[in-house]
Amino acid sequence: MAPTLYPELFMWRVVVLFCAVLSGTPDCARVSARKVNPKIVSDVTIWTSGVEGEIAGYRTPFMTYTPNGTILALAGARKYNKKDNGKKIISLRRSTDKGVTWTPTAFLVDDGYDHGVLGAGTAFVDDDSNTTFVMFIHCQFRCAVPSVLLMNSTNDGVTWGQPRNITPQLQPGVVSHPSPGYGIRKRYEPHKGRLVVCAHGRGPDWGLSLLLSDDGGRTWRTGAFVAKRPCNDSCRGENQQHMFQLGECQPVELPDGSLLVMTRNELRCTCHCKAFLTSHDGGESLPISSLRFDQTLIEPPTDAGLLFSDGVLYFTGPNSSSKRQKMTLRWSYDNGTSWAGELPIWEKAAGYSAVTMLQKDPEDKNYLYVLYEKGFSKTGTSTAAIAFAKIQL
Ligand SMILES: *[C@@H]1O[C@H](CO)[C@@H](O)[C@H](O)[C@H]1NC(C)=O
Ligand SMILES: *[C@@H]1O[C@H](CO)[C@@H](O)[C@H](O)[C@H]1NC(C)=O
Ligand SMILES: *[C@@H]1O[C@H](CO)[C@@H](O)[C@H](O)[C@H]1NC(C)=O
Ligand SMILES: *[C@@H]1O[C@H](CO)[C@@H](O)[C@H](O)[C@H]1NC(C)=O
Ligand SMILES: *[C@@H]1O[C@H](CO)[C@@H](O)[C@H](O)[C@H]1NC(C)=O
Ligand SMILES: *[C@@H]1O[C@H](CO)[C@@H](O)[C@H](O)[C@H]1NC(C)=O
Repeated sequence: MAPTLYPELFMWRVVVLFCAVLSGTPDCARVSARKVNPKIVSDVTIWTSGVEGEIAGYRTPFMTYTPNGTILALAGARKYNKKDNGKKIISLRRSTDKGVTWTPTAFLVDDGYDHGVLGAGTAFVDDDSNTTFVMFIHCQFRCAVPSVLLMNSTNDGVTWGQPRNITPQLQPGVVSHPSPGYGIRKRYEPHKGRLVVCAHGRGPDWGLSLLLSDDGGRTWRTGAFVAKRPCNDSCRGENQQHMFQLGECQPVELPDGSLLVMTRNELRCTCHCKAFLTSHDGGESLPISSLRFDQTLIEPPTDAGLLFSDGVLYFTGPNSSSKRQKMTLRWSYDNGTSWAGELPIWEKAAGYSAVTMLQKDPEDKNYLYVLYEKGFSKTGTSTAAIAFAKIQL
């Protein structure tokens, strides 16, 4: 499967071997990933908050491709006000022409009027069964144990089944809010084929957990859990209370089958920047010894986008350590050890972001799609709209 999914990477490997054997020159041997030169093709608003008679606020964008080459853009549509604990509906727009046109908004799940409050969510795909999933939390602020719900579509996101409650399958006492972003299906061993969703805690057991399924999404269990802990930041020695609090997260799989998990660093342990943990056992554990902070990936803090394709790691997030503004794409050729380039996507207010890439046609690997919270002034709200940017790589 790998050579057909990654024809370019496969060819580069052949080239690298060939060069190494024939010439051995360092320049030649250094070729390990494709090189990119990202440019914005289009940037359009797909949801506007607070239009009269409409949804008060569209927030927490998340996105996935489908095996049939469709882009699904989703968001938490906040019905009456923009607050986290207000009533919501999951909204969806589909694009079957690579982000040029969009279907009208479909509202997938409504949390009703009396109790509840849903929080959305993570989207992911089982490419074997062509099933697309959305996992989200329900009753996130009002129940002692919020429910993790899962629903799926087998017709490219046109219709969706009833959500089912998978909470009883997960580790009790670990609150799991599927983070805005996408889940992954492992392409390499160990545990090839496993579905992995990254979730963040909220409340007394703040932390980060990986939810795992080895049977195409039928059954789930909690794998790694990393709890909030003392930061141990020597620069802040006087602040005994300083904690490392993990938050909204996004995993990617590297070609050796390891999982790189990026997390929001809510209390700014060590830096106003992102933290990463690595799992070498398919998400069963995320050893704290693998923790590293990335000083380049500054954050306000906020949720952010991460994607690995053809040897290149892409990041989207605000280029600011204090404000949700300046949505920026960064790319790395060495798994995030260093960042080779950056492209401003939007210079004014901008907050959460999510990324995806289509997988169907060979040319799909030349485009990255970014869904992000957007504001229209530099200092005002970042939640005026949700925009979709198409980027040529
Ligand atoms: C899944 O969808 C792809 C692309 O549309 C198609 O080629 C494949 O046959 C489908 N597989 C199944 C199991 O339906
Ligand atoms: C897949 O896309 C093709 C057009 O590209 C369309 O004709 C077909 O109906 C789609 N299949 C599904 C299951 O949506
Ligand atoms: C997909 O949704 C249907 C309808 O709710 C359900 O019967 C089925 O078990 C779900 N499949 C998976 C893998 O979750
Ligand atoms: C800080 O030190 C404690 C005690 O050794 C340890 O349990 C914790 O994981 C450390 N925190 C971080 C962020 O590494
Ligand atoms: C990136 O990680 C892969 C393992 O998944 C490794 O083979 C490769 O050498 C790493 N690249 C760099 C430049 O460190
Ligand atoms: C990101 O911010 C830094 C510091 O303000 C600035 O030097 C850099 O040009 C910015 N990058 C982009 C892509 O805007």
